[in-house]
Amino acid sequence: MSRSLDPTSQGPPDWDALYRRGTPPWETGRPAGELVRVIDEGLVRPCRMLEMGCGSGADAAFLARRGFEITAVESAPIALERARLHAEQEEAQVRFVLGDVFDFAKNAGSFDFIYDAGFYHCVRRWDLDRLLDLLWRVTRPGSLYLTLAGSTEETGEGGPPRVSEQEIRGELGRLLEFVHLRPFRFESPERPEGYLGWSCLLRRPTGKT
Ligand SMILES: C[S@@+](CC[C@H](N)C(=O)[O-])C[C@H]1O[C@@H](n2cnc3c(N)ncnc32)[C@H](O)[C@@H]1O
Repeated sequence: MSRSLDPTSQGPPDWDALYRRGTPPWETGRPAGELVRVIDEGLVRPCRMLEMGCGSGADAAFLARRGFEITAVESAPIALERARLHAEQEEAQVRFVLGDVFDFAKNAGSFDFIYDAGFYHCVRRWDLDRLLDLLWRVTRPGSLYLTLAGSTEETGEGGPPRVSEQEIRGELGRLLEFVHLRPFRFESPERPEGYLGWSCLLRRPTGKT
């Protein structure tokens, strides 16, 4: 997903600068094929939801048009400007929030569904505990979380930050139970066959046996 994201970096990049340079390598202008599949399969039904790090908003516009009441949070002003424009062009109703999703989550309450493409696989490297805390705050028993993350099974050069099945199970499995963890391919403007990723759908346990 990114030539520009240093896989060894221990801190966040200057996201806005990556957008300012032009089109970042994760941006295809279209909703992620795997997100479309998950929705078409009926695994997540229209509900009140949060997207973390929506980027230029193709997924948010898609979800809004499929009936989701979506709040999409993004900290890079240029990306959010593009996302607003995209939603306007698609006549999609998205509540956009410009800011840090960690701050947003402090008073946001909970949602039925949380989604990210490329947020967990980046942020886990420098802020995993905060991310788990955030996920706890914005979910309630029964809430679903879908993350699309780069995979260590990818053998080619470049692409998104990579995470192994074992790491995903160890990190997200601390809070949530797995509905599915399946491979898919991220579309990429820089590589026709895209990059291997994990589609990881989880649910917060209800406490019932
Ligand atoms: C790899 S990009 C993916 C963008 C988008 N989901 C997509 O697939 O095109 C990660 C996004 O998360 C945003 N981001 C990173 N940290 C953030 C934070 N703390 N709060 C809100 N957005 C954040 C970045 O600005 C960037 O747009």
